[in-house]
Amino acid sequence: MSESFEMTRDDVAKIAKNWLSEKRYQHVLRVEATAIELAKRYGVDQKKAGLCGLAHDLCKEWSHDKMVEAVRLYGLDEEMIPYGSAIMHGPLAAEWLKREAGIKDESIYKAIYQHTIGGKEMDNLSRVLFIADYIEPARQFKGVEEARLLAEKSLKAACDFKITHTLQYLIHDHKLLYPEVLEIYNAQMILNQEKSMGQ
Ligand SMILES: [Fe+2]
Ligand SMILES: [Fe+2]
Repeated sequence: MSESFEMTRDDVAKIAKNWLSEKRYQHVLRVEATAIELAKRYGVDQKKAGLCGLAHDLCKEWSHDKMVEAVRLYGLDEEMIPYGSAIMHGPLAAEWLKREAGIKDESIYKAIYQHTIGGKEMDNLSRVLFIADYIEPARQFKGVEEARLLAEKSLKAACDFKITHTLQYLIHDHKLLYPEVLEIYNAQMILNQEKSMGQ
Protein backbone atom coordinates (compact mmCIF):
# COMPACT_ATOMS: atom_id res chain seq x y z
CA MET A 1 0.00 0.00 0.00
CA SER A 2 1.51 3.33 -1.00
CA GLU A 3 1.94 6.11 1.54
CA SER A 4 -0.53 8.38 -0.20
CA PHE A 5 -3.29 5.78 -0.54
CA GLU A 6 -6.54 7.06 0.91
CA MET A 7 -9.97 5.58 0.31
CA THR A 8 -12.66 7.81 -1.12
CA ARG A 9 -16.24 8.08 0.06
CA ASP A 10 -17.32 5.60 -2.63
CA ASP A 11 -14.62 3.07 -1.68
CA VAL A 12 -15.86 3.19 1.91
CA ALA A 13 -19.49 2.88 0.75
CA LYS A 14 -18.61 -0.28 -1.20
CA ILE A 15 -17.00 -1.85 1.86
CA ALA A 16 -19.94 -0.85 4.05
CA LYS A 17 -22.30 -2.48 1.55
CA ASN A 18 -20.22 -5.66 1.57
CA TRP A 19 -19.71 -5.92 5.28
CA LEU A 20 -23.06 -4.81 6.62
CA SER A 21 -26.59 -6.15 6.48
CA GLU A 22 -28.88 -4.14 4.18
CA LYS A 23 -30.63 -2.77 7.26
CA ARG A 24 -27.43 -1.46 8.78
CA TYR A 25 -26.18 -0.21 5.41
CA GLN A 26 -29.31 1.90 5.13
CA HIS A 27 -28.67 3.14 8.69
CA VAL A 28 -25.16 4.33 7.85
CA LEU A 29 -26.45 6.11 4.74
CA ARG A 30 -28.98 7.96 6.92
CA VAL A 31 -26.29 8.79 9.47
CA GLU A 32 -24.13 10.11 6.61
CA ALA A 33 -26.95 12.42 5.45
CA THR A 34 -27.82 13.53 9.00
CA ALA A 35 -24.16 14.19 9.82
CA ILE A 36 -23.81 16.37 6.70
CA GLU A 37 -26.90 18.37 7.73
CA LEU A 38 -25.61 18.89 11.26
CA ALA A 39 -22.18 19.79 9.91
CA LYS A 40 -23.77 22.47 7.72
CA ARG A 41 -25.65 23.89 10.69
CA TYR A 42 -22.62 24.01 12.97
CA GLY A 43 -19.89 24.95 10.51
CA VAL A 44 -18.15 21.56 10.60
CA ASP A 45 -16.35 20.04 7.58
CA GLN A 46 -19.20 18.35 5.70
CA LYS A 47 -17.01 15.90 3.81
CA LYS A 48 -15.46 14.61 7.01
CA ALA A 49 -18.86 14.45 8.71
CA GLY A 50 -20.33 12.43 5.84
CA LEU A 51 -17.42 10.03 5.82
CA CYS A 52 -17.73 9.55 9.57
CA GLY A 53 -21.42 8.74 9.17
CA LEU A 54 -20.76 6.23 6.44
CA ALA A 55 -17.84 4.52 8.20
CA HIS A 56 -18.78 4.59 11.87
CA ASP A 57 -20.36 1.11 12.05
CA LEU A 58 -18.06 -0.62 9.54
CA CYS A 59 -16.86 -3.22 12.04
CA LYS A 60 -20.15 -3.73 13.86
CA GLU A 61 -20.93 -7.06 12.22
CA TRP A 62 -17.48 -8.60 12.60
CA SER A 63 -17.57 -11.84 14.59
CA HIS A 64 -16.65 -11.64 18.26
CA ASP A 65 -13.43 -13.58 17.58
CA LYS A 66 -12.42 -11.24 14.79
CA MET A 67 -13.06 -8.24 17.05
CA VAL A 68 -10.99 -9.68 19.88
CA GLU A 69 -8.17 -10.54 17.50
CA ALA A 70 -8.20 -7.03 16.03
CA VAL A 71 -8.32 -5.34 19.47
CA ARG A 72 -5.07 -7.19 20.26
CA LEU A 73 -3.52 -6.63 16.84
CA TYR A 74 -4.27 -2.89 16.91
CA GLY A 75 -3.07 -2.54 20.51
CA LEU A 76 -6.41 -1.27 21.80
CA ASP A 77 -7.32 -1.52 25.48
CA GLU A 78 -8.17 -5.18 26.13
CA GLU A 79 -10.41 -4.16 29.00
CA MET A 80 -13.05 -3.35 26.41
CA ILE A 81 -13.35 -7.02 25.34
CA PRO A 82 -15.87 -8.18 28.02
CA TYR A 83 -18.17 -5.32 27.04
CA GLY A 84 -18.61 -6.79 23.58
CA SER A 85 -19.34 -5.34 20.20
CA ALA A 86 -21.14 -2.31 21.66
CA ILE A 87 -17.88 -1.00 23.07
CA MET A 88 -15.37 -2.49 20.61
CA HIS A 89 -16.88 -1.59 17.23
CA GLY A 90 -16.15 2.15 17.33
CA PRO A 91 -12.46 1.96 18.23
CA LEU A 92 -12.04 -0.92 15.75
CA ALA A 93 -13.55 1.07 12.88
CA ALA A 94 -11.33 4.06 13.75
CA GLU A 95 -8.20 1.86 13.70
CA TRP A 96 -9.26 0.01 10.56
CA LEU A 97 -9.79 3.25 8.65
CA LYS A 98 -6.41 4.57 9.71
CA ARG A 99 -4.49 1.38 9.00
CA GLU A 100 -6.31 -0.20 6.08
CA ALA A 101 -8.05 2.69 4.34
CA GLY A 102 -5.30 5.31 4.73
CA ILE A 103 -7.74 7.73 6.41
CA LYS A 104 -5.40 9.23 8.95
CA ASP A 105 -7.26 12.40 9.86
CA GLU A 106 -7.11 12.64 13.66
CA SER A 107 -10.56 14.23 14.05
CA ILE A 108 -12.19 11.49 11.96
CA TYR A 109 -10.36 8.87 14.05
CA LYS A 110 -11.60 10.43 17.28
CA ALA A 111 -15.18 10.91 16.09
CA ILE A 112 -15.50 7.28 15.02
CA TYR A 113 -13.67 6.01 18.10
CA GLN A 114 -16.02 7.96 20.37
CA HIS A 115 -19.29 7.50 18.52
CA THR A 116 -20.92 5.00 20.89
CA ILE A 117 -20.20 6.42 24.34
CA GLY A 118 -18.82 9.87 23.61
CA GLY A 119 -15.56 11.13 25.03
CA LYS A 120 -14.15 13.29 27.80
CA GLU A 121 -13.03 15.75 25.17
CA MET A 122 -15.14 15.96 22.05
CA ASP A 123 -14.64 18.33 19.14
CA ASN A 124 -17.58 19.37 16.98
CA LEU A 125 -16.97 16.63 14.41
CA SER A 126 -17.22 14.04 17.20
CA ARG A 127 -20.37 15.68 18.44
CA VAL A 128 -21.92 15.75 14.97
CA LEU A 129 -21.40 12.01 14.47
CA PHE A 130 -22.44 11.19 18.04
CA ILE A 131 -25.75 12.99 17.51
CA ALA A 132 -26.34 11.98 13.87
CA ASP A 133 -26.16 8.33 14.95
CA TYR A 134 -28.68 9.07 17.70
CA ILE A 135 -31.29 11.04 15.78
CA GLU A 136 -31.11 9.74 12.18
CA PRO A 137 -34.67 9.69 10.76
CA ALA A 138 -35.40 6.00 11.44
CA ARG A 139 -34.52 6.23 15.14
CA GLN A 140 -37.52 5.72 17.36
CA PHE A 141 -37.15 5.79 21.12
CA LYS A 142 -38.64 7.70 23.97
CA GLY A 143 -36.94 11.07 23.92
CA VAL A 144 -35.79 11.09 20.30
CA GLU A 145 -37.95 14.13 19.49
CA GLU A 146 -36.42 16.03 22.39
CA ALA A 147 -32.96 15.02 21.18
CA ARG A 148 -33.80 16.24 17.65
CA LEU A 149 -34.99 19.59 18.99
CA LEU A 150 -31.90 19.97 21.14
CA ALA A 151 -29.70 19.18 18.15
CA GLU A 152 -31.18 22.19 16.37
CA LYS A 153 -30.15 24.49 19.20
CA SER A 154 -26.96 23.13 20.71
CA LEU A 155 -24.69 20.25 19.82
CA LYS A 156 -23.26 20.14 23.33
CA ALA A 157 -26.71 20.00 24.94
CA ALA A 158 -27.75 17.21 22.58
CA CYS A 159 -24.59 15.27 23.48
CA ASP A 160 -25.25 15.70 27.19
CA PHE A 161 -28.77 14.42 26.61
CA LYS A 162 -27.49 11.30 24.85
CA ILE A 163 -24.79 10.64 27.45
CA THR A 164 -27.26 11.01 30.32
CA HIS A 165 -30.01 8.96 28.71
CA THR A 166 -27.67 6.17 27.69
CA LEU A 167 -26.41 5.94 31.26
CA GLN A 168 -29.96 5.83 32.60
CA TYR A 169 -30.91 3.12 30.10
CA LEU A 170 -27.89 0.95 30.95
CA ILE A 171 -28.65 1.11 34.65
CA HIS A 172 -32.39 0.63 34.17
CA ASP A 173 -31.81 -2.49 32.07
CA HIS A 174 -29.12 -3.88 34.42
CA LYS A 175 -26.56 -3.78 31.63
CA LEU A 176 -22.81 -3.77 32.17
CA LEU A 177 -21.47 -0.26 32.56
CA TYR A 178 -18.16 0.32 30.80
CA PRO A 179 -16.32 2.39 33.44
CA GLU A 180 -15.34 5.07 30.95
CA VAL A 181 -19.04 5.88 30.43
CA LEU A 182 -19.12 7.28 33.95
CA GLU A 183 -15.86 9.17 33.49
CA ILE A 184 -17.21 10.73 30.31
CA TYR A 185 -20.43 11.71 32.04
CA ASN A 186 -18.48 13.40 34.85
CA ALA A 187 -16.10 15.15 32.46
CA GLN A 188 -18.98 16.59 30.45
CA MET A 189 -20.89 17.73 33.55
CA ILE A 190 -17.73 19.39 34.92
CA LEU A 191 -17.35 21.23 31.61
CA ASN A 192 -20.89 22.59 32.06
CA GLN A 193 -20.17 23.66 35.65
CA GLU A 194 -17.01 25.46 34.55
CA LYS A 195 -18.92 27.18 31.79
CA SER A 196 -21.72 28.36 34.09
CA MET A 197 -19.22 29.58 36.71
CA GLY A 198 -17.31 31.45 34.04
CA GLN A 199 -20.36 33.42 32.97
FE1 LIG B 1 -22.13 2.25 16.25
FE1 LIG C 1 -24.68 3.58 14.09
